[in-house]
Amino acid sequence: MSEERILLVDDDASLRKVLEFNLEQEGYGVIAASNGSEALKLFDTEDPDLVITDIKMPGIDGMDLLKEIKRRDIERLVIVITAFGTIDTAIEAMKLGAYDYITKPFNRDELRLVIRKALEVQRLRSRAQLLEAQLVERFSFENIIGASARMAEVFEMIRRVAPRDATVLIKGESGTGKELVARAIHYNSPRRKGNFIAVNCSAIPENLIESELFGHKKGAFTGAVSDKVGKFELSSGGAIFLDEIADLRFDLQAKLLRVLQEKEIERVGDPRPVKVDIRVIAATNKNLEAMLANGQFRDDLYHRINVIPIQLPALRERADDIPLLAHHFKNKFGEATCRIEPEVFLAFRNYPWPGNVRELENVLQRSLLLRKDAECLKVSDLPDHIRGAAASSPEFLFHIPDEGINLEEVEKELLLYSLRKHSWNQTRAARFLGITRQALIYRMEKYGLRTEQPASDEQSQ
Ligand SMILES: Nc1ncnc2c1ncn2[C@@H]1O[C@H](COP(=O)(O)OP(=O)(O)OP(=O)(O)O)[C@@H](O)[C@H]1O
Ligand SMILES: [Mg+2]
Repeated sequence: MSEERILLVDDDASLRKVLEFNLEQEGYGVIAASNGSEALKLFDTEDPDLVITDIKMPGIDGMDLLKEIKRRDIERLVIVITAFGTIDTAIEAMKLGAYDYITKPFNRDELRLVIRKALEVQRLRSRAQLLEAQLVERFSFENIIGASARMAEVFEMIRRVAPRDATVLIKGESGTGKELVARAIHYNSPRRKGNFIAVNCSAIPENLIESELFGHKKGAFTGAVSDKVGKFELSSGGAIFLDEIADLRFDLQAKLLRVLQEKEIERVGDPRPVKVDIRVIAATNKNLEAMLANGQFRDDLYHRINVIPIQLPALRERADDIPLLAHHFKNKFGEATCRIEPEVFLAFRNYPWPGNVRELENVLQRSLLLRKDAECLKVSDLPDHIRGAAASSPEFLFHIPDEGINLEEVEKELLLYSLRKHSWNQTRAARFLGITRQALIYRMEKYGLRTEQPASDEQSQ
């Protein structure tokens, strides 16, 4: 990301110098001005990401400057600096559209937090504007939305595997879009004119699954009053989507293997084989490798279906896509004209989304329906548990109570935060914290964090 630039306005030269130094140390570019009119000129020529201005200045004061800036660009973020005991001024500034205020004297941490939050909002806003410009289409593939690198990989895989007949195994947590991807593969394949038959292996009752998949002959068992064509035959010429394949009964796993090898099936109660021309796309949210080790899933079948694995990222691993998805769903629900307050995205970013995209879609549908302001979706419209996630943002780790804190506790919290955010992927968690993987492992051992790692990637909704 390119350096973010802050226009800093204060008539007090010594305070300006200290602030300038502090901000530069934080990695920001600083454009300094000593009065309002100089600041306005710089605002026009330099186009800063954020403005921080003192209120009390001779000539054009901070309040006038704020009004002028808002007149030029209503969206631009301005933080005002007010003197101790002048809360009324701060309130007035907020009414005029200041994003936030800090009261003199302030400490470095306080300033840092306010700026970080403002710039985050600024980034989300620019992103939202980008989306409003109807760029959504560019980042989607058959209605699968995503502009993150992880999703670009998925799109690339879909493009590559679709034209071929190879079996595909789609892995991912619940609600990550496995069925959507399966459909995209089929409808971009030469078999697109054939049926796409989805079978949820965990939802069909045990005693029916065999006849559902393979069909049966009249009289094969009690209740088989007529011949039945199974899903494999129905999908001949097209594709069969075996969802939740990990839940397929062990004996049927052997039969499925046979279908894949021989390209023929036998209806229940009829020994005559029937040729089928199918492509199999399977999906699971379970850890098949762990099931192999436990003997719950057949090795031979696993190798047969795991020809081309596609791993779908959890939503928390591609949090950058959340605004894009939110806009997509907002439009889908016919609410294209409703704005989404940037703070909503902040809360979304801090929430772990165990139910992934499906959960995001449901949350948006509900919140849009129940919102108080017709023109804007606000944080206050969100369900409690998601609003609460904003409060548990790591930024608040640095709120230091008067009685002090335990540095090791803070370190442990940060490690946990980073590991959870990256689904316990050590390489990514270490990169996030700016340390080596070895250093991360050392610290995980020190704090006994290994034991908290989920045993498999099985996820609950
Ligand atoms: N990348 C995406 N872009 C847009 N919509 C998505 C995306 N991923 C998922 N969805 C939407 O989220 C919902 C869940 O998707 P889907 O049913 O494909 O997930 P799944 O991985 O099969 O979930 P489960 O494991 O619970 O069956 C659907 O409404 C789908 O349209
Ligand atoms: Mg599914």
